[in-house]
Amino acid sequence: MSNVYYMNHPLIKHKITMLRDERTGTNEFRKLVEEIAMLMGYEALCDLKTRDIEIKTPIEDTVQPVLDGKKPAVVPILRAGLGMVNGILALLPSAKVGHIGMCRDEKTHKPQTYYCKLPSFIEERLIIVTDPMLATGGSLIDAVNEIKALGGKTIKCMCIVAAPEGVKAFTDKHPDVQLYIGALDRGLNENAYICPGLGDAGDRIFGTK
Ligand code: PRP
Ligand code: URA
Repeated sequence: MSNVYYMNHPLIKHKITMLRDERTGTNEFRKLVEEIAMLMGYEALCDLKTRDIEIKTPIEDTVQPVLDGKKPAVVPILRAGLGMVNGILALLPSAKVGHIGMCRDEKTHKPQTYYCKLPSFIEERLIIVTDPMLATGGSLIDAVNEIKALGGKTIKCMCIVAAPEGVKAFTDKHPDVQLYIGALDRGLNENAYICPGLGDAGDRIFGTK
């Protein structure tokens, strides 16, 4: 069974179109990334476990569900993945946050890891990795390699825009990991940028060039 899930919600589609538009400035871009992450998170977390507890409403005693199961950790891939964190924390406010710093070499397009700090008891957590862009797949593959090497077992990855090349490379290496994609694009150009894509996500979120 495939572990890749493509978003089909019209709100997500609309907001990704706004994100792609070159006229969208930094402030609006940031807000959109956060909103899309929250909407994608709502879909991606639909399999969270619940358990029943007894409570009292103003009317009567009742048994109702609350979240149960593994404690969550959000792990953004720096820099661009940071833009998605608050969207997920809006859904899971008690989640811990780890960070993996990765940078793609401009010529070889290979990622280099420059930082990694994950929450404690990572092996017991539901880990939600965020990165808006899945291009060649190299960054996400290495990030998940790192998380697994540190004990992570239950992992969901969320990417807003993906190229088919990246989806294939990732699922070949990590078939056990659930991958949530906002939009699947045509492919990569000679600079390994996603087409039509949205440009450089990190630069657009942080206003750098
Ligand atoms: C971008 C993006 C991903 C990576 C995707 O990060 O946020 O992490 O490229 O490319 P890949 O699938 O080919 O590895 P970048 O290296 O530009 O760093 P930044 O977020 O700091 O801008
Ligand atoms: N990283 C980005 O930010 N955008 C792309 O299209 C590819 C990698």
